[in-house]
Amino acid sequence: MPRLVVVSNRLADPRKSAAGGLAVALAEVLNETGGLWFGWSGRTVEPNEGGRGGEGRLHTQHAGPVTLVTVDLSREDHDSFYAGYSNGVLWPVFHYRLDLADFDAGYITGYRRVNQMFARKLKALLRDDDIIWVHDYHLIPLAAELRALDCHQRIGFFLHIPLPPSLILAAIPGHDWLMRALFAYDLVGFQSKADLLHFTGYVEAEAHAHSMGEGRWRAFNRTLQAGSFPIGIDVEEFESLTRAPEGREMFERMRREYSRRNLLVGVDRLDYSKGLPQRMKAFREMLERYPEHRSSATLIQIASPSREDVSAYSDILHELETLCGSINGNFGELDWMPVRYIHRTVARTRLPGLYRASRVALVTPLRDGMNLVAKEFLAAQDPADPGVLVLSRFAGAAEQLRDALLVNPYDVEGTANAIHLALQMPVEERRNRHAALMSVIREYDVHWWCDSFLDALVQAQPEETGTPWLRL
Ligand code: ADP
Ligand code: F6P
Repeated sequence: MPRLVVVSNRLADPRKSAAGGLAVALAEVLNETGGLWFGWSGRTVEPNEGGRGGEGRLHTQHAGPVTLVTVDLSREDHDSFYAGYSNGVLWPVFHYRLDLADFDAGYITGYRRVNQMFARKLKALLRDDDIIWVHDYHLIPLAAELRALDCHQRIGFFLHIPLPPSLILAAIPGHDWLMRALFAYDLVGFQSKADLLHFTGYVEAEAHAHSMGEGRWRAFNRTLQAGSFPIGIDVEEFESLTRAPEGREMFERMRREYSRRNLLVGVDRLDYSKGLPQRMKAFREMLERYPEHRSSATLIQIASPSREDVSAYSDILHELETLCGSINGNFGELDWMPVRYIHRTVARTRLPGLYRASRVALVTPLRDGMNLVAKEFLAAQDPADPGVLVLSRFAGAAEQLRDALLVNPYDVEGTANAIHLALQMPVEERRNRHAALMSVIREYDVHWWCDSFLDALVQAQPEETGTPWLRL
């Protein structure tokens, strides 16, 4: 059996809690397959400690069947590669937010330097028959850098975030360089059919690629397989977390504490793509329009701190705090606070109980690659008395979860009406919707995602020997 080598910027110890869809899903996959997980250590070092240009030290750690190898970044590389290019350019543009992008010309040099450093460090750890699976926007040029070092292994790439239409992508200075780099992979996977369409639209229009049929595209003298592989959760694992003593205890505590209330829940990284201010405005509008929910509806919003060194993130933090404060100030009573806002990552074992005690989940991102919280909420419900999922039509998950209450999160009034509908939905309708949604998330779970991607990677037709590798 070839070894699976996963490469991502963010790693997590598979035995501990993490916030972020990528870390949660990969921890689940690797716990089962075993293998090597390579990426950033999460630490920045001073240049004299780690060396300039990100030549950081490697750290090796064993976590069950997984070997984690991580590398430190210099402060300069962290600022240009992670905060700068990845989260200041690619994240906003790929989430359709050109207004928030900071196109500083210096960032791309750091981005390329760190990808080259990752390639050098990783090459030394590779075996000839490894299958390499690279994840997310931080590492788009990694395969091209590995190829430049003569790595011939199968390499696949999965984009966890959305891919916008070509006219938005084309706003990135150097977009052609970036998209060309994808052709060094054997397989490129996206979360949704819409993202895949944007990719094929781009490569046809901008790179004059032509279709070879069955998802194969030829450009730059290379052939690439492209497909959509919507990521899922480990439904069984989440169900057993729900049944575990800690899950049950949390559920009972929440039920006791909020016995006279209808709970609504939101769980997100504190990110402007998650639509948190719009969600609060919709909740406020719902209280305004439907006074019968005053004194009963309580929204628990958990938002884990994220990327606090990027300025757009501190702006959203202040906006959210102000909104929560004003809703509580305007609507709150001595014995009822409409919003409980918690700026923290909560232990993963406590989430199922919280989800199960909630009548409604608000998953209303302005744009999201997939959104795993939507699927976790469904898996934690009691099928006989399930809660209702209010889901943004702009989350990748909406392509699959058609039986959720789909909303346009920019439409505050429409979302407020949907929240009211969800709070009032009769049990029969809740059961039917939940059963239909569960059958989708069971079929397309995290194991399906991993197996279907890796099967497609193994089956992707190799280039003829002697074809020159794409050079960046
Ligand atoms: P993203 O990858 O953009 O953060 P997803 O919804 O796909 O969004 O994945 C988020 C993952 O992180 C889920 O597994 C969720 O349970 C977890 N998570 C998000 N916010 C928190 C939080 N505040 N506390 C604990 N876990 C969180
Ligand atoms: O799932 C999308 C994603 O951007 C991952 O790539 C990332 O690891 C996660 O969200 C959390 O972000 P960060 O790694 O910047 O904390």
